Amino acid sequence: MDLKNLIRTIPDFPKPGIQFKDIESITEHPEAFSHVVERFSEAMEAHDIDKIVALDARGFLFGGALGLRQKLPIVMARKKGKLGGDCVAETYALEYGSAEVELQKTAIKSGEKVMIIDDLLATGGTAAAAAALVNQVGGDVTLFAFVIELDGLNGRAQLGDVDTVALVSF
Ligand code: PRP
Ligand code: MG
Repeated sequence: MDLKNLIRTIPDFPKPGIQFKDIESITEHPEAFSHVVERFSEAMEAHDIDKIVALDARGFLFGGALGLRQKLPIVMARKKGKLGGDCVAETYALEYGSAEVELQKTAIKSGEKVMIIDDLLATGGTAAAAAALVNQVGGDVTLFAFVIELDGLNGRAQLGDVDTVALVSF
């Protein structure tokens, strides 16, 4: 399936000059969405994953579908202030300023093998912060998965030597 051709570009969003890749181009087509989930399923075969960490907000769609397909627990890494209970937190840099993500302390048990999933890898700041959250609670990040990777931003360099899969690159 030609995912790359399916993905719409919205010019000048969220700011002038940015070519926004609209992931809804995939989720609005069940066949394409299903294809993506199957590709992620194949990618995780070798990894014996215990738990999926899905990233706020668009990563929830893919992590949710994949977790159900694989009968694996799904937990959320969320932007600050959205989760209840005791949380760990990580701050990461944005183009202007910073943001904070959180994970419930009980979401992952020590030693569990974790897959982190999001719609898109750009600078890698979001995914690296999520990995730091998992590490804080004793989990072991063994796979990163993205639908889209933006080349030229060197996001993979933020992810260390952890196995990383991206289905489409721009
Ligand atoms: C976008 C995208 C990724 C992240 C990638 O999310 O969905 O999560 O940016 O960028 P990075 O690799 O440079 O960190 P965003 O925070 O814009 O919001 P949303 O998913 O909640 O819509
Ligand atoms: Mg996001």
